[in-house]
Amino acid sequence: NNYVLIMAGGIGSRFWPKSRNHFPKQFLDILGTGKSLLQITYNRFLKVCPAEHIFIVTNSQYSDIILEQLPEISADQLICEPSRNNTAPCIAYASFKLAALNPEANLIVAPSDHFILFEDVFVERIGFALEYTRNHEALVTLGISPIRPDTGYGYIQYGKETEEGIYKVEKFREKPTLQKAQEYLSAGNYLWNAGIFIWKAKTIISALKKYAPEIHDLFESGKEHYNSPAERAFIDENYASSPNISIDYAIMEQADNIYTIPANFGWSDLGTWTSLHEAAGKDAANNVISAKQVNVQDTQNSIIHINTHKVAVIRGLDNFIVVDDGNALLIYPKDQEQEIKEVVRQLADEF
Ligand code: GDD
Ligand code: MG
Repeated sequence: NNYVLIMAGGIGSRFWPKSRNHFPKQFLDILGTGKSLLQITYNRFLKVCPAEHIFIVTNSQYSDIILEQLPEISADQLICEPSRNNTAPCIAYASFKLAALNPEANLIVAPSDHFILFEDVFVERIGFALEYTRNHEALVTLGISPIRPDTGYGYIQYGKETEEGIYKVEKFREKPTLQKAQEYLSAGNYLWNAGIFIWKAKTIISALKKYAPEIHDLFESGKEHYNSPAERAFIDENYASSPNISIDYAIMEQADNIYTIPANFGWSDLGTWTSLHEAAGKDAANNVISAKQVNVQDTQNSIIHINTHKVAVIRGLDNFIVVDDGNALLIYPKDQEQEIKEVVRQLADEF
């Protein structure tokens, strides 16, 4: 009864200009391994459940890229959204569809764009979580020990250990202010939400009914169409009218049956330039430099990606991001990188 749902419809805007609307981060070989983050994610989940139980949910715009990168999946493993409404409707649609296939479906909902160093530990923890949700009406999320007051994550305040390795979540706070993030970090009883969720399809559907009834009712009204020829028309007609909200705000901040499994598998959300900086190899001055020909002097703690054939000279930078991607150039202070998302929103759509 185990299924994987890989979410691959985001635009990765904090990774601009490498990540673009028409070809976002999850489809790029960010780590230089010869495989895209989506391909790495898919291969990782082959260790968790049979290939035919892995579904990818994405915007229709990316379906060709996905079928090209993962030629082994069949068209019905690709769930397509006609509009961008964030992760709550994406998860709701896919959960109704999978529950129609198998009422006992037990799901792992995962991002398509993370880095995981210790895959064996990851696979073991996922197995443990699936075993728990199979027997409990619980919404489980994997928790990572925080190492900096990052405002791009969800923070999990955990309470009692209700069973070995399983903690009740007291409070979930998505993307706090810097001041709050600092408080949470020093409080010591908070974890980062890895964004990897484990629950039965019917458990998340009940939570949607309670905390996001508008989304629930919309997708429930299509119940008789899922996995039939009428599904496409129903979704094309109704999907865009769903509220636009992430699962973190819609459910995780509200529900009272959330549990966390603290896990340590060398996780990095390659969400921003700083997180790539952490995961990548650095030089003696703590710079991550990837460039054809660059002369860097008196520069520290910076990320320099120059993907064109240009020659560059950089001097006197501390804590900066410099990314030249041919037709777009970003120069931005690293500690303000969360703003990049907003800056990119103001640019023309093709970026
Ligand atoms: N199909 C689909 N449709 N996928 C989407 C959509 C959508 O509308 N929007 C985002 N995604 C995908 C992204 O591609 C990514 O793989 C995943 O869903 C999560 O979306 P992000 O936009 O990357 O979320 P985030 O990084 O800001 O925050 C989430 O992840 C953090 C950890 O990386 C939250 O769950 C945080 O609480 C968490 O800490
Ligand atoms: Mg992310």
